[in-house]
Amino acid sequence: MKPILFAAALSLCSLASSAATPLYLDNNAPLEERVEDALSRMTTADKIAIIHAQSKFCSAGVPSLGIPELWTSDGPHGVRPEVLWDEWDQAGWTNDSCVAFPALTALAASWDPAISRLYGESIGEEAAYRGKDVLLGPGVNIYRTPLNGRNFEYMGEDPYLAGVMVAPYIQGLQSKGVAACVKHFALNNNEVNRHTTNVIVDDRALYEIYLPAFKAAADAGAWSFMAAYNLNGDEHMCHNKRFLNDILKGEWGFDGAVISDWGGVHDTREAITNGLDLEFGTWTNGLSSGASNAYDNYYLARPYLKLIESGEVGTAELDDKARRVLRLMMRTSMNPAQRGSMCSPEHYTAARTIGDAGIVLLKNDGNVLPIKTEGDVKVLVVGENAVKMMTVGGGSSSLKVQREISPLDGLRAALDGKAQVEWVRGYVGDVTGEYNGVVTGQDLTDSRSAEELIAEAVDKARGADYVIFVGGLNKSAGQDCEDADRTGLELPYNQDAVIEALAAANPNLVVVNVSGNAVAMPWVNKVPAIVQAWFLGSEAGNSIADVLTGAVNPSGKLPFTFPTSLNDVGAHALGAYPGTQRADSPIVDLEYKEGILVGYRWADAKNTKPLFPFGHGLSYTTFEYGDATVDSKTIGMGDSITVSVPVTNTGKVPGQEVVQLYIADNKASVVRPPKELKAFKKVALLPGQTEVVKFTIGKDALSFFDDKAHAWTAEPGKFTVLVGSSSRDIRSKAAFTLTDKAVASK
Ligand code: BGC
Repeated sequence: MKPILFAAALSLCSLASSAATPLYLDNNAPLEERVEDALSRMTTADKIAIIHAQSKFCSAGVPSLGIPELWTSDGPHGVRPEVLWDEWDQAGWTNDSCVAFPALTALAASWDPAISRLYGESIGEEAAYRGKDVLLGPGVNIYRTPLNGRNFEYMGEDPYLAGVMVAPYIQGLQSKGVAACVKHFALNNNEVNRHTTNVIVDDRALYEIYLPAFKAAADAGAWSFMAAYNLNGDEHMCHNKRFLNDILKGEWGFDGAVISDWGGVHDTREAITNGLDLEFGTWTNGLSSGASNAYDNYYLARPYLKLIESGEVGTAELDDKARRVLRLMMRTSMNPAQRGSMCSPEHYTAARTIGDAGIVLLKNDGNVLPIKTEGDVKVLVVGENAVKMMTVGGGSSSLKVQREISPLDGLRAALDGKAQVEWVRGYVGDVTGEYNGVVTGQDLTDSRSAEELIAEAVDKARGADYVIFVGGLNKSAGQDCEDADRTGLELPYNQDAVIEALAAANPNLVVVNVSGNAVAMPWVNKVPAIVQAWFLGSEAGNSIADVLTGAVNPSGKLPFTFPTSLNDVGAHALGAYPGTQRADSPIVDLEYKEGILVGYRWADAKNTKPLFPFGHGLSYTTFEYGDATVDSKTIGMGDSITVSVPVTNTGKVPGQEVVQLYIADNKASVVRPPKELKAFKKVALLPGQTEVVKFTIGKDALSFFDDKAHAWTAEPGKFTVLVGSSSRDIRSKAAFTLTDKAVASK
């Protein structure tokens, strides 16, 4: 698995037998002392060697010191299959299949930090078993537009939610001796023109919307960050002084390594001075694009060495980079705690549990769901996504799975002996199933016309007790997929027409939308039940069946707004997407004109009516909220108040509710969103049970980023606490006053 690890191990043995264990190999010694010891033994060439790749996914160790090479892998939903040393083609291994976990949107939709910890630990074990030291994920770029092809790999539109949810993933993963590589830092909020977009954003939006989840990741102790492809201030993010040196390493005190996105480095001198530590994926043009064994020509390889040898640059930056990479190695590849297992029953259970927790019941008129199986029940399943494998495709997060349960298989298993289940196609989407040499092996070809497919589905639907339409997006280019964005909000492949026809044929229609993005639903009022099912990985079908049959009571909440149309999204309403190409260069300037008003902040400020609002998600039971109370009507700076709200399960089955707390600043000297999420808690309640949910709110929850003072500021005055079941289903309010002014630290 790690070709030179054997050599490294040999040299470790010889070192150990010839003398006392050197300090850098002593796992009980303080990390910084070990790093300095290793550094002091390295030549300039050794240091250069460890700061750039030596293959598609691996960088060199220090063979003379017995320090093994460092292996990275995508990420973030499972461990990527092996590719050839120098090529993207499959290596053809037969032991690199993995468990695919649900996409990060599904994880965010669980609103449950314990589920995130389970995710991190499970994927960490898979990565460790496969000999990976750095997992390329998780991603926390904010959901700015529903067209972004990579939203499914991120954690939604709210910086607080994404920050709370990303931390346990990182800590769980790293507890297995595998580093998180938090991506894509930063402002990589769309895929179109991802290498050439120069984002223009004001400091308030930067600090209030786009940075907090990354800061939460740094605060959680992430060992590496991946710098993004795009630019800010005309400087590529992979060597962007402000973002890497000033913010990440300066303001946030990050001591880990900054890794470039693959091919994101463009300049040796900027890479030296502007905070990049480890270069990967560079296309060595000038030799020939992607030439084999061209790693010596990387920006941080021979060109850097030459500048040092000629005296044009010093070695202070090199030492800093080598230190950071050594730290990363000691935390991972040299960490005896790096241990794992692959495709274990526990990992499948984890994948199913995460999926169960993330599925969102969007609508359930007349309690169509869960499926009732008394009598001779006929269930008709319609749609390509009921059978299509979703773990292959989507770009670098594509996986080779040991198994993937389709929604149809999941339903068949769950309803075995209880109902007759039949499937018809309904529509033909994308019948291909290949990414990077991994093939699904499914033959989805169907030469029938759209009319024939609809006629068949309608005919069967008339005789069914339930019709379950499973559609949505897929991982093909232009859908939920890297390197391109969607071209519109609507469902592809004529699905709207199929759904309309089914709704007319059978009143018990359930639409299961598989996607990582919001989609338009022009038929929303004609369909009684709608489920948002995400990309759920290996156990997708089982999780979906769990919820549809009621074995699991749905408890997920939307981590982003479903707008009615693109005009209800700030970026689109203001024409601030995808930017304007400069006349004389490939650079595309993209100004985030909506500033801090992203997602529900925009919807609230403009009073739009979302199709489904941020934080929305129903249950098979009902929850009643009592009055929210505060333990003090005033707070001073440095104080905190406790908000209490009783929540009761008033239905007949056990369930979980995500109690959400938003804060509104009643009057401010700057524009503030009408309300912002500042706390939440997922509570499990038995029928009739009440829990008094408590939240502690301090100055942080009241502050905005004062761009002139470059500091977080809370202004004295009246604030409102809004507690509810979604951003648009506020059940109770309370008020308090902040009494004196102070400036928070950076
Ligand atoms: C993607 C990264 C990924 C890397 C390696 C890049 O194109 O943007 O997210 O980790 O490739 O596959």
